Amino acid sequence: MIHIKKIARHGYFDGSSIAVWYIKCLSTISFLLRIHMSNTKFSVLLRALMVAGLALGAMSAQAVDEAAAKAAFKDSKCTKCHSDDKDKSGPSYKKVAEKYKGQADAEAKLFTHLTTGPTIKVDGEDEVHAKAKGDEASVKNMAQYILSR
Ligand code: HEC
Repeated sequence: MIHIKKIARHGYFDGSSIAVWYIKCLSTISFLLRIHMSNTKFSVLLRALMVAGLALGAMSAQAVDEAAAKAAFKDSKCTKCHSDDKDKSGPSYKKVAEKYKGQADAEAKLFTHLTTGPTIKVDGEDEVHAKAKGDEASVKNMAQYILSR
């Protein structure tokens, strides 16, 4: 008791210092909590970003929609002059894929070829190359199909 009184007299144990100590404790705890929370949020965010990145990667590496491409070739009458592996009036898609192998802009080039109607030679005669029907996504899918042969 005497000791406590002494300590109290010395001001170690008076109300105000306890309050200060209490507040310091609380702020330390909340500081630690905040770090923890922000770390949790950060890791959740990181995980979400990683998942999104993986999904994007998977999407870009995703197999072409072959059925849709085949239907589009039919619809645009490409089949009249092209097939997967036999040359008709036009080169086989396999040949086209070989020609563009390893070229980063191959898809863009085919997209242009299929949307701008370039003049080509069909059996020795100048002819405007057929334009692909369908929207951008469909034509891109056609290009990806051809390049994946
Ligand atoms: C009348 C016949 C004919 C039709 C129809 C036709 N093509 Fe072609 N296509 C050709 C010929 C011929 C070439 C070769 C042109 C050249 O090399 O100069 C060619 C070239 C291509 C190429 C290669 C282009 C390159 O840069 O090497 C692709 C890809 C292609 N055609 C896709 C298609 C698609 C898809 C369709 C349908 C929208 C289509 N073609 C319709 C005759 C045709």
